[in-house]
Amino acid sequence: MTKVSIIGAGNVGATVAQYLASKNICDIVMLDINEGAAKGKALDLTQSVAVTGGSAKITGTSDYKDTANSKVIVITAGSPRKPGMSRDDLLKINASIVSGAARESHRYSPNAIFVVVSNPLDIMTYLVWKETGVSTSRVIGMAGVLDSARFQSFIAEELKISAEDVRAMVLGGHGDLMVPLPRFSTVNGVPVTELIGPKRIAEMSARTANGGAEIVNHLKTGSAWYAPGAATAQMVEAIVTGGRKLYPCSVHTGEKYGLPAVFTGLPVILGKRGVERVVKLKLNKAEIAALKTSALSIEANVKRLNELKEEAAKAAEPSTKAKDA
Ligand code: LAC
Repeated sequence: MTKVSIIGAGNVGATVAQYLASKNICDIVMLDINEGAAKGKALDLTQSVAVTGGSAKITGTSDYKDTANSKVIVITAGSPRKPGMSRDDLLKINASIVSGAARESHRYSPNAIFVVVSNPLDIMTYLVWKETGVSTSRVIGMAGVLDSARFQSFIAEELKISAEDVRAMVLGGHGDLMVPLPRFSTVNGVPVTELIGPKRIAEMSARTANGGAEIVNHLKTGSAWYAPGAATAQMVEAIVTGGRKLYPCSVHTGEKYGLPAVFTGLPVILGKRGVERVVKLKLNKAEIAALKTSALSIEANVKRLNELKEEAAKAAEPSTKAKDA
């Protein structure tokens, strides 16, 4: 079977593994610096397959050698958000964890497609692209599927209908400035704008943008993992099976939307080569303006990331000289 490696065996990583195991589409390697956590969860999951069925081989490790020749590398490593912490607060902590994970896994799987889940999502996705040097079609951030699922769930609740009949589209960055698109969200083809008034839609859009924080505030010790895990597994499935699914994913903006060159949520066709195509939607003025505002905030954070890197490099210089002297 195709090999998928998951870097980080915390709640999100383990839940991705669980959903993938139940799909029975790939062998799974769970890697964590905490080798015991990776090995223990892999063993537990293997035994769960004896109940639920399937033939996926699941292994746990702390050695990147074991991830060699993966078709997909899922990066979930990093610190989760704590209450009161913005996703951007995580920038500094997670940048060093994610760049290490990207470099190491790319060494052993030079042809892999990367699915990035660590926060701040769009910045970490950019970082994986920079660190690995692979083409933009092979680096994809998971956020739009999760944010759309949250919007779908709120719409279903509002209309007292089944959430699986609701299809929603949320673009832009995975942060407070994300862009839910009611015009492109439907209940089995009926635009939600026909079913729900603008005031309620605005409230539900705001709740979607705040969806991660709402859960953090309940949990107090971390952030969500079930819906993030399910969303990530669905993206991996599209890549492993060549599904050619239209999903909102964090991808390099390219030329199509006239946005700054960052990674942000856009509709793409996801298939065996990763991003098969970025889909161009005819957005209205307000939608494109919101997308631009979100992209500009991502651009500012990428700049901060690069500044932090330079500062760290400078701080390292004199100490090396001192040692030499
Ligand atoms: C969330 C965090 C994981 O949206 O970004 O739940």
